[in-house]
Amino acid sequence: MNSLPANKSDWLIKKIIKMGGTISFYDYMNFVLNDPINGYYGSGKVELGIRGDFVTSPSLSDDFAFLVGKQIEDWLIQFKNSFLSNRKFSVIEFGAGDGSFMSGLIKYFLESRMNFWKNVSFVIIEPNQGMVEKQKNKLEEFLNLGVDILWKGLEEVDENNINGIVIANEVLDALPVERITFSKGKLFRQAVSIDKKSCKLFFDKIPIPVELLKTIELAKSKLGITIPPKNALEGWTTEWHVANSEWLKALYGKINNGILLIIDYAKEAEKYYSSMNSDGMIVSYENQKMMKNVLVNPGNCDLTSHVCIETLINDAETLGFKTLGITKQGEALLSLGLAERLYGIQKEFKEDLSNALLRREALLRLVDPLCLGDFRWFVFKKFKEKKMITNINSTCLR
Ligand SMILES: C[S@@+](CC[C@H](N)C(=O)[O-])C[C@H]1O[C@@H](n2cnc3c(N)ncnc32)[C@H](O)[C@@H]1O
Repeated sequence: MNSLPANKSDWLIKKIIKMGGTISFYDYMNFVLNDPINGYYGSGKVELGIRGDFVTSPSLSDDFAFLVGKQIEDWLIQFKNSFLSNRKFSVIEFGAGDGSFMSGLIKYFLESRMNFWKNVSFVIIEPNQGMVEKQKNKLEEFLNLGVDILWKGLEEVDENNINGIVIANEVLDALPVERITFSKGKLFRQAVSIDKKSCKLFFDKIPIPVELLKTIELAKSKLGITIPPKNALEGWTTEWHVANSEWLKALYGKINNGILLIIDYAKEAEKYYSSMNSDGMIVSYENQKMMKNVLVNPGNCDLTSHVCIETLINDAETLGFKTLGITKQGEALLSLGLAERLYGIQKEFKEDLSNALLRREALLRLVDPLCLGDFRWFVFKKFKEKKMITNINSTCLR
């Protein structure tokens, strides 16, 4: 992947030149995804779903949100029965994309017989204004019905204030990563430079800042992760998730009693940092096509990097989160009743065959072991209230 040319992109070129002609890969990923005018998410130009650049579970159909909704409702009922009987709960979604998950979740709560939704604040934490606009359009009908939906920055939430469920589906894979490159027996920070004559982007390397090196050393001593691995060849490169721990830290302080459900592409450290995986896990998506060259068409396609299972769990537990469990999406959704929903579609076949077939395909994609079904569900908790500490039940982990 190193040194491949990229399409011209004036806004980014100007930015890189202004910063001296070379920027870290972290800055590159941050700009191309989150720049408010030209970034893929920042500007809101992303299109999710089968007609967009890539699918996410909630963009396929409401079935995903209904199945997760069952779990969220069940957790909240346990909160209510244990210690939160008179308080209002929050269901907080980070990085809500085009609003599909929140829309499906609210439909689930409105359809459930218990009027439970009246005790729930639905909150979206989304830093990209372009995405907020999409979400507001999608959720307008529920706002008009009086459903309590708020958009907030995490900094606006008071410390120890969240009582409820926090979900982040495919958000950590969109947080900028550092990339570390092994060259001539030394580790470097991967950078992106501009060739001033041709205006093409290419991969470069710059020294690793001491702080970054320290996090790599720490992972070695705590988790046995060796970077570079034995037998790494010249040019071996990996992603290093510096933003996950910052994100978890900012969130941890805000939770009073809560469950955090993170769903994402994930790999075991042993495979992630092996010498065989010589170019990391980061890829880009455009028009449903996956590309290894992440310098192509910057700002017009998604960049996504798998999370590392062990480092994510370690980051969370170091802060004080307790791990309730980790499972694959396929297994979680089957435990939550995906097979029954699939069976239920049979009734729809006579009424509307084409829609029933589409729904069936969407449900099967959610559990496809080669893609979404292999996503990991990480379930963490932080409870200040002692009563809940031992006995929370999670159907998705059975
Ligand atoms: C791959 S999309 C996932 C969208 C949605 N969760 C879904 O599953 O359809 C990533 C989302 O995370 C948002 N995002 C990026 N950085 C974020 C951050 N630091 N905090 C919260 N959301 C973020 C993006 O704007 C976008 O809405």
